[in-house]
Amino acid sequence: MGRDVIIACDFSSAEQTFAFLDKFTGRKPFVKIGMELFYAEGPSIVREIKKRGHKIFLDLKLHDIPNTVKKSMAVLSGLDVDMTNLHAAGTKRMMEGALEGLTRPDGTRPLLIAVTQLTSTDQETMENDLLIKEPIDKVVMHYAKNAKDAGLDGVVCSPLEAGKVHETCGAGFVTVTPGVRFADGDIGDQKRVMTPAEAKKIGSDYIVVGRPITAAPDPVAEYERCVAEFVD
Ligand code: C5P
Repeated sequence: MGRDVIIACDFSSAEQTFAFLDKFTGRKPFVKIGMELFYAEGPSIVREIKKRGHKIFLDLKLHDIPNTVKKSMAVLSGLDVDMTNLHAAGTKRMMEGALEGLTRPDGTRPLLIAVTQLTSTDQETMENDLLIKEPIDKVVMHYAKNAKDAGLDGVVCSPLEAGKVHETCGAGFVTVTPGVRFADGDIGDQKRVMTPAEAKKIGSDYIVVGRPITAAPDPVAEYERCVAEFVD
């Protein structure tokens, strides 16, 4: 499994998404489809993008009782995505059920990645809203270990946490990291960022890049720049 750049296609319609993807006449990027686009367009958007030759990370962050997640994952697996995810907070049993559901009759399955704590949750909200009193770093690593024990392939984390996740869960445990910005770029609402080159150095396996590519005047050039820094 190689390093790769995943473009976050945070668009609200198929029309906008295809207008964006039409620009990529050479290399077909790995793309992330999130809740906004999936809920707007339904499963057909996944089939359509797949048909165009893209790998797909379906970012729907499932969290429910184990049986419901297992059956839902079986449906997502049938969509032939390459990577999908869930919340580690759903417990090891839920993650094991998800893996079972995701595994196709021929034994293949998409990569399954866990979200530990969302970056919108900080120590204070975790303590006050969730009544979790441990330090957030410890909680994140504990959830990563749970995901590993349940047989998952990796976690979504900040590029700053990728090294620690590999130390804790092994070099083969995949890290998918958003919060990537070019050294000369605008960081927008992301707080803790790294450049593609820094993310490579620290050992991220996949970087998820949205606006630095999607909002650029020449998205293909920015994508190629990202690949040159992170992959090549
Ligand atoms: O535009 P930008 O590069 O900030 O997009 C990053 C993508 O990664 C978005 O789809 C965002 O929802 C997602 N993400 C994130 N931070 C997380 C988890 C996901 O930015 N902790």
